Amino acid sequence: MGRTRRKITVVGAGFVGSTTAQRLAERDYADIVLVDIIEGMPQGKALDLLEAGPVERYDARVIGTNGYAETAGSDIVVITSGVARKPGMSRDDLLLTNAKIVGDVTRSVVAASPEAIIIVVSNPLDAMAQLAHHVSGFPRERVIGMAGVLDSARFRTFIAMELNVSVEDVTAFVLGGHGDTMVPLPRYSTVAGIPITELLPPERIQALVERTANGGAEIVSLLKTGSAYYAPSSSIATMVDAIMLDKRRILPCAAYLQGEYGIDGLYVGVPCKLGASGLEEIIQITLTEAEAAALQRSAAAVRDLANVLRQNGLLPA
Ligand SMILES: NC(=O)c1ccc[n+]([C@@H]2O[C@H](COP(=O)([O-])OP(=O)(O)OC[C@H]3O[C@@H](n4cnc5c(N)ncnc54)[C@H](O)[C@@H]3O)[C@@H](O)[C@H]2O)c1
Repeated sequence: MGRTRRKITVVGAGFVGSTTAQRLAERDYADIVLVDIIEGMPQGKALDLLEAGPVERYDARVIGTNGYAETAGSDIVVITSGVARKPGMSRDDLLLTNAKIVGDVTRSVVAASPEAIIIVVSNPLDAMAQLAHHVSGFPRERVIGMAGVLDSARFRTFIAMELNVSVEDVTAFVLGGHGDTMVPLPRYSTVAGIPITELLPPERIQALVERTANGGAEIVSLLKTGSAYYAPSSSIATMVDAIMLDKRRILPCAAYLQGEYGIDGLYVGVPCKLGASGLEEIIQITLTEAEAAALQRSAAAVRDLANVLRQNGLLPA
């Protein structure tokens, strides 16, 4: 009997990973494998999710494991494993800790699912995507980072709140690395097709842009421990939908640039077409001088992190 259902693996069964598994199980288009190093934890969460199936009416099988045998032949693998920054930890400390985890995880993922499309979520996002791309040896079409969908969802939320309109009518674009240097693009952010630059004064737009850039930190400071996971998991599921259902959606994702936007050999957030084969196209849009400069600054911040990985022998020189 051949396998008939498709398979999605989520590595890391913490807040982001388990919420992602829930959202994907509820979509009911694939079986879900949840992997974590903590014994019993992914198994317990998976069983709990499986038992929600009869009530929510999904047949997706949900399996939890501490290994990779069950992940074999996955169509998509979402990597959320890693640690969050703790007081006293430098950014580089977090970078190297998560680099070790993401590197090890990627090797195991690739051995079990050589044809998978990898969606990287662990932070610092762009550097982790760069590492997973290198370690996997996969083409750039099959290693994509999630950040822009989340950042633009936050921007859309704040625009809708400001204008008292439905979030459904708001589209927004955020480019660049996932961090303080992200580049929200008001000119390409619209309400029912009308650019927000026509609807809001520049100082209000600037306030929304700043709140978006600090969107993650705002939630971390409220939660005190841990970081956001509802909107991140929704954003991951949007990317998975685009691939699983071959929707060819244009979404801002971290992609390996090879000259696009004047950036070479680096993961940076840009508009991407996502479909059945993963990254199908990088859309190049015209930027103003100020926007282009902001994107270059953002890319420089990613390059700094990639250089730390290089100095530690984790990326080739
Ligand atoms: N890209 C984004 O927009 C975005 C958004 C939110 C969170 N994140 C990042 O996602 C990551 C996960 O966040 P979270 O809130 O779920 O954290 P969490 O601490 O709740 O979960 C992380 C899980 O990874 C597991 N893990 C650690 N090493 C592992 C390994 N080698 N193999 C398998 N599992 C392993 C841990 O046991 C833990 O359960 C963090 O790095 C966070 O910064 C990124």
